[in-house]
Amino acid sequence: MTPEHILVETRGRVGLITLNRPKALNALNDALVDEIGQALDRFEADDEIGAVVITGSEKAFAAGADIGAMAGFSYMDAYLGDYITRNWERVKTCRKPIIAAVAGFALGGGCEMAMACDIIIAADTARFGQPEVKLGILPGAGGTQRLPRAVGKAKAMDLCLTARMMDAEEAERAGLVSRVVPAERLLDEALAAAETIAGYSLPVIMMIKESINRAYESGLSEGLLFERRQFHSAFALEDQKEGMAAFVEKRPAHFKHR
Ligand code: CAA
Repeated sequence: MTPEHILVETRGRVGLITLNRPKALNALNDALVDEIGQALDRFEADDEIGAVVITGSEKAFAAGADIGAMAGFSYMDAYLGDYITRNWERVKTCRKPIIAAVAGFALGGGCEMAMACDIIIAADTARFGQPEVKLGILPGAGGTQRLPRAVGKAKAMDLCLTARMMDAEEAERAGLVSRVVPAERLLDEALAAAETIAGYSLPVIMMIKESINRAYESGLSEGLLFERRQFHSAFALEDQKEGMAAFVEKRPAHFKHR
């Protein structure tokens, strides 16, 4: 079925998802988030895809969860419907790496969606924030959890409690985004980074992603042990033999399991 709120395409070995609700600044309604999940299912099942980029428009990556859709919610609607968790977790559970390419507003659920990805590359026009407090609610898709892990408690408190926005430069300084690029270069830079990742051994890329996520979610000793076991298992891969042989023979590696 053709998605209604996103565009889905492939560029080489990269799956590209473009949020496409321009009139609502890509506000994330249930249908749109379902469509992201379906696109990720497709890309995960496709051996020709090694990485994914999620992007928005020049004006907005996404201005948050759809306020109109939830304005009339009762507690029971939110709780029984498992609002926001139900389909949003799919971004987190994707085993292939996802880059968020962010221009313009990434607010509320938009900032949370970007943070659920593995890397955020920001245009110099990007603005991040968790303005839910202005609506009489709090972040509900990870803002109070992922933001402090990314930028520290003081800045996370500042953003969530005051609702102020952070520009791209501040977001890079704070560690939320990995690089800032001129807006007109955003998609090319994100696709190039994704293509680079997609050129490496996919099982190794997955192990790296899993290990870094373990650092994020567990204590140091447990994380180090997890990394070491993953490291040991990498020696079972043909791609490890190829990667090291290529280094010794001074030639590019040709990974079999891309
Ligand atoms: N939900 C639904 N519609 C939204 C929206 C949202 N989050 N954000 C913007 N829109 C709509 C506007 O209603 C407007 O629609 P109409 O033209 O039909 O009136 C259209 O997008 C354009 O928006 P503006 O006219 O407001 O554009 P602007 O340039 O003047 O302002 C903005 C841009 C500062 C981003 C402003 O739109 C804004 O503050 N949006 C809301 C941001 C927000 O509060 N996000 C958090 C949502 S709650 C959440 O995300 C919970 C969670 O944790 C998951």
